[in-house]
Amino acid sequence: MTITIKSGADIPALRIAGRLASEVLDMLTPHVKPGITTEQLDKLAHDYIVNVQQAIPAPLNYTPAGYIPYPKSICTSVNHQVCHGIPNDRALKNGDIVNIDVTVIKDGWHGDTSRMFVVGEGSIAAKRLCAFTYEAMWKGIAKVKPGARLGDIGHAIQSFAESNGFSIVREFCGHGIGQVFHEEPQVLHYGRPGTLEELVPGMVFTIEPMINAGRREIKETGDGWTIVTKDRSLSAQWEHTLMVTETGYEVFTLSEGSPALPAFISSTST
Ligand code: MF3
Ligand code: CO
Ligand code: CO
Repeated sequence: MTITIKSGADIPALRIAGRLASEVLDMLTPHVKPGITTEQLDKLAHDYIVNVQQAIPAPLNYTPAGYIPYPKSICTSVNHQVCHGIPNDRALKNGDIVNIDVTVIKDGWHGDTSRMFVVGEGSIAAKRLCAFTYEAMWKGIAKVKPGARLGDIGHAIQSFAESNGFSIVREFCGHGIGQVFHEEPQVLHYGRPGTLEELVPGMVFTIEPMINAGRREIKETGDGWTIVTKDRSLSAQWEHTLMVTETGYEVFTLSEGSPALPAFISSTST
């Protein structure tokens, strides 16, 4: 089992796929309001990816070993849903938080990104969870450079989240990505510094921490995909796709509507 190293023409192709995935979130943003259903968001995203971007929504019919085919084009995980929420006919309501996770395939290359949205006016606690999870993702990204190890990323995310009273979901992780949706390595969002694989230029992977307001335990629901917190506490997630460069990292999943960087990050590529 090996980690593929991207080079040459792979890199501009990944930049395009990453930007397109982020632009789907930009397009959806003004629609994420009380009253819209997640199925309506899915239709907007599907039609935009297929007709405007002339790309492919990677989740649609995606069938990893042991799973049933994923039935929609995006994932929408609301409130205590941790990840892989399937869009449905329930309307979003004021105060909900929702993760929208978009993966597109353009010219054979994947871009995978997600953001949190607060529907209408959220509680202080809900907004705090979303903001800290965003910072946690960037704490992990900030560790990326040649010679660092995957355990450095996991440790940065875990220590930041836990020191602020949150918990890290262990069962799902970031992943290598490229011409394959999920490939090696696994990028854990917890761990010990100096452990696991050493980062080298050309590695491309996602960092996508799932962080709970309550306990870290999760459970599967009956639909074959949706994961929820066992204690029904709120859960948040953000995701970027990035590459290890000679000097640090380059984040691929950026666009006009990407949220402002945390204060401790000065650039999206280093
Ligand atoms: N986009 C998710 C990730 O970040 C994977 C979703 S698989 C799906 O890895 F089939 F649920 F879409
Ligand atoms: Co991912
Ligand atoms: Co994703």
